Amino acid sequence: CGIVGYVGTRDVSQVVIGGLRKLEYRGYDSAGIATLDDGKLRVVKSVGRLANLEEKLLHEPVQGHLGIGHTRWATHGKPSDENAHPHQDCSRRFAIVHNGIVENYLALREELISKGHQFKSETDTEVVVHLIEELFNGDFLQTMVQVGKRLRGAYALVAMTKDAPGTIIAMRKASPLIVGLGQGENFVASDIPAILEYTRNVYVLEDGEMAVVKADGVQCYSLDGEPVSKEVYAVTWDAVAAERGGYPHFMLKEIHEQPKAIRDTLLGRVSPDLSRVTLSELKWPEGFVKEIDRIHIVACGTAWHAGLVGKAVIEQLSGIPVEVDIASEYRYRDPIQTPNTLVIVISQSGETADTLAALREAKRRGRRVLAITNVVGSSAAREADDVLVTWAGPEIAVASTKAYTTQLVALYLLALYFAQERGRVSQDELHAILKGIDGLPQVAEQVLDTAPQIERFAKDWAHASDTFFIGRGLDFSVALEGALKLKEISYIHAEAYAAGELKHGTLALITDGVPVIALAMQDALYEKTVSNIKEVTARGAFVLGMTWVGDEELQKSVDQVIYVPHTLPLLAPIAAVIPLQLLAYYAAVARGNDVDKPRNLAKSVTVE
Ligand code: G6P
Repeated sequence: CGIVGYVGTRDVSQVVIGGLRKLEYRGYDSAGIATLDDGKLRVVKSVGRLANLEEKLLHEPVQGHLGIGHTRWATHGKPSDENAHPHQDCSRRFAIVHNGIVENYLALREELISKGHQFKSETDTEVVVHLIEELFNGDFLQTMVQVGKRLRGAYALVAMTKDAPGTIIAMRKASPLIVGLGQGENFVASDIPAILEYTRNVYVLEDGEMAVVKADGVQCYSLDGEPVSKEVYAVTWDAVAAERGGYPHFMLKEIHEQPKAIRDTLLGRVSPDLSRVTLSELKWPEGFVKEIDRIHIVACGTAWHAGLVGKAVIEQLSGIPVEVDIASEYRYRDPIQTPNTLVIVISQSGETADTLAALREAKRRGRRVLAITNVVGSSAAREADDVLVTWAGPEIAVASTKAYTTQLVALYLLALYFAQERGRVSQDELHAILKGIDGLPQVAEQVLDTAPQIERFAKDWAHASDTFFIGRGLDFSVALEGALKLKEISYIHAEAYAAGELKHGTLALITDGVPVIALAMQDALYEKTVSNIKEVTARGAFVLGMTWVGDEELQKSVDQVIYVPHTLPLLAPIAAVIPLQLLAYYAAVARGNDVDKPRNLAKSVTVE
């Protein structure tokens, strides 16, 4: 979900709606705004896209210079006008917006109902505003401290009241919140792009902090109400970087940004003569790298797919055993760790609730945690012991593309670093792989040049209802990501299979004309994969193969071929995933879908 708050001299509805527009990618089944308009608390909200709220505001305009707004992605309670935020109390003196989940909301709700509060929505959020009303003692800050003591769960809360007409209070427990610092005006938001138009100076609220935000100043406190002093964090990214830059969709722009994102992620991490990996940001204790005896990689969604490639590469190059887990599984499965287990969490946003929970659990058990994340200053970056940033720049489209390829780059570098520090790789081998890695931006560029051809293929795929992605080894990991892309944005059912596994059940689904994408990029497994391709063509499948430029063989066994410029098979995932991203993108466009904001999905899932 997205949160924006403002207090200053500008027209509050413009600032809030403008900010929400920049955050819409975080969740978008409903939206709303609350303002203080001539001493009166006004709330307007609407189910659906932000445009619906704007339409409503044309008929019921709100004015004023203080307000809060929200875009919602439903957790408790279906998307509806009533369940949209902001929520108000019975006396209409308070309004709040909230991200996250109040875990004890049912008990609080019963308690408040018994005290006479009447609820209008099904949300967990509404209990908070009734609780504020119940506990309000004339002192807004102290009231919010008391409210905080009663809430369990993860939340980012922003509250306003007509009884404190120049004040907004923001509270953070787990879910992210920042305060934007202006001149005679201040901002609150769940993420930086919302306020970048107005200021680059922010306070990043830590877990367990709150801020009292007024036009002429901001004071931060602990959730106990003790003042804390904060350092101003200056945002260095460029506002244009968060805009669409001429492409019809953020996703296409982000796909095309991959050569640069890969280049940026490599910058300063490989010696100019391609003989060494230098990850100077890792402040590991003396000897630690040599003592690591296992690695657990934990992530969700696309980041988990990157982790699967990471496992193969780290094991192959460094010999350290690696397990890869889905974060929501890892946190509850009591994984076997040794004192020298390194836990690596991978998260584009650094805010995914399940991934953060796994990180915290690993830390609680005393493990050292490395975060691979795209957001400097994110929760994962701040809470992990070490951070490897993927310099992909802001990723706006819900379907992850450049974050994935840069996560792979980070994992390749890490694997090589382990190998180098543990003496597992010869200088020649290290140099050969680093040369391959150094060439990846160019490989990505060449793959992107084939976009018009992929667009033509995608037109055939757009009509499919069930599709299969097959491959062996690293190709299988990429197949999983390709299938996820297709599902997420085109809504075409897609399943990825290890090519050799198909015959153990799924082959029953291969009938005349069923589209199959077959990746044949792992030279050592090439012939085995071709045999599996024959198994599906024999059942009538329509096969789109993927192989290296110069391979004359594959075309004999498949219907269409995507040729990818040569790199090492170890690095094939970066070259192979781009055509699959493009295929999903063009299929989704052909089906008329909202590519950047696929139904039911959110960019950053900050609930369990
Ligand atoms: C959401 C997004 C996915 C993403 C996953 C993990 O489900 O829609 O694209 O892969 O979260 O996000 P993270 O920010 O932790 O990488």
